[in-house]
Amino acid sequence: LNQRPISVWRYKEFLPVRIEPVTLQEGGTPLYHLKKIGEELGLPNLYAKHEGMNPSGSFKDRGMTLGVSMAKQLGKNIVACASTGNTSASMAVYAAKAGMPSVVLLPAGHVALGKVAQALMHGAKVISIRGNFDRALEMVHELCVSHGIYLLNSINPYRLEGQKTIGFEAVDQLGCVPDRIVLPVGNAGNISAVYKGLCEWRDVGFIDTLPMMTAIQAEGAMPVVNAIKGNLPEVVVEQNPETVASAIRIGAPVNAEKALRAIHETKGTAESVTDAEILAMQRDLARYEGIGVEPASAASVAGIRKLAEQGMLDPREKIVCVVTGHLLKDPETVIKQCAPPIEIDPTIEALLSVL
Ligand code: F0G
Repeated sequence: LNQRPISVWRYKEFLPVRIEPVTLQEGGTPLYHLKKIGEELGLPNLYAKHEGMNPSGSFKDRGMTLGVSMAKQLGKNIVACASTGNTSASMAVYAAKAGMPSVVLLPAGHVALGKVAQALMHGAKVISIRGNFDRALEMVHELCVSHGIYLLNSINPYRLEGQKTIGFEAVDQLGCVPDRIVLPVGNAGNISAVYKGLCEWRDVGFIDTLPMMTAIQAEGAMPVVNAIKGNLPEVVVEQNPETVASAIRIGAPVNAEKALRAIHETKGTAESVTDAEILAMQRDLARYEGIGVEPASAASVAGIRKLAEQGMLDPREKIVCVVTGHLLKDPETVIKQCAPPIEIDPTIEALLSVL
C-alpha cells in the first residue's frame, strides 16, 4: 500500500468499483499541523486535514468519484442531487468527466456563489427551489425514484464508501490512529463514512483503536448535538435551520442514525458553535495558519476551541479536524468580514501614504 500515491484510489480494495473509475485524482489532501492555534488552546497535537484541496474544492469529490463510477458500473445515464452547494459542484464536475447529464436542486438564496458557479460552468441543469435543503432532498428523491435517475446524495451508500478514505489517509499521514477526529456535521454522511472506514480497518487488523468521533454543528442547525446532549435515541428534526455556514444549514440529517452510533460507540461527543465563533475561527485559520476554508469547515476547529476552553480535552490528544471546503467557495461571506481594498491614485506618494 505504501508504494501507491496517497489518494482515494490507493485504497481501492476497500471500495466497491470494479470498472475503470471516473477520477480527477481526488484525495491525498494535506494534513497540516495547527501550530499556533494548537499553542493557544494548549493542544500541541492539533491537525487539520484540508479537504478544500480536492479537485472541486471539497471532500465531496471523494464520494463523487465513487458515486459517478458506480452510476457507470450500474448502467445509469443521468445523475441528480439536492445540495447546499458542494455536492452539486462536485457532481457537476464528475458528471462532466463521465459525459453524463446531471440535475441539481438547490435551496434558493442559500447557496454560496462559488458553488453555484461551479455547478453552472460544469454543465449541470441547476434548479433553485423556494424552500430549504431538506425539502429539495425530498423532491429529488421522489424524482429519482419515479424516473430512474441515479441519486447522488449521501443516502447513496457508494458516496460514503469514497468518503471513508478521509479516515484512512489521516491514519496513514499521522502514522497512527488519532485520538479524536472532528467533523462539521450537516446531513451526517461524512462522519458516518469516516467511522465506517475505520471500523473496517479495525476488523481486518490494520488498526486496533478507533478515534473519538466528534460532531460539530452550527447553533442554528444542531439536531445531532441536541440528540447527543439530550441522550435521545434519535434526532428531532429542526424545521427552520439557519446559519452563516450555509453548507451545514440542515435540519433533517438523513444519516443521523449512523452518526449517533459512531459518536456513542467511540465515546465521542457533539458540540455546537455560534456563527460568530465559526467566523472567528475562519479568520484565525486564514491569518495564523495560512489555511483558507469556508465557514462550515471552520466549524470543526471552532468546536475544538470551545471544547478546549470548557476543559473537555486531554492536552495529549492527537486531534484531526477535517476542514471540508475551500475559502473561495463562499467569497461573499469573506468580503462581508474584511475591509475592502484601499483604492488610490497610481502614484508612489499615494501608495506610501496608505502603507
Ligand atoms: N462541510 C461542508 C463544506 C459541506 O459542504 C458539508 C455538506 C458538510 C461539511 C457536512 O457534511 O452533510 O456529510 O454531514 N454539504 C452537503 C452539500 C450537504 O449538499 O454540499 P455532511
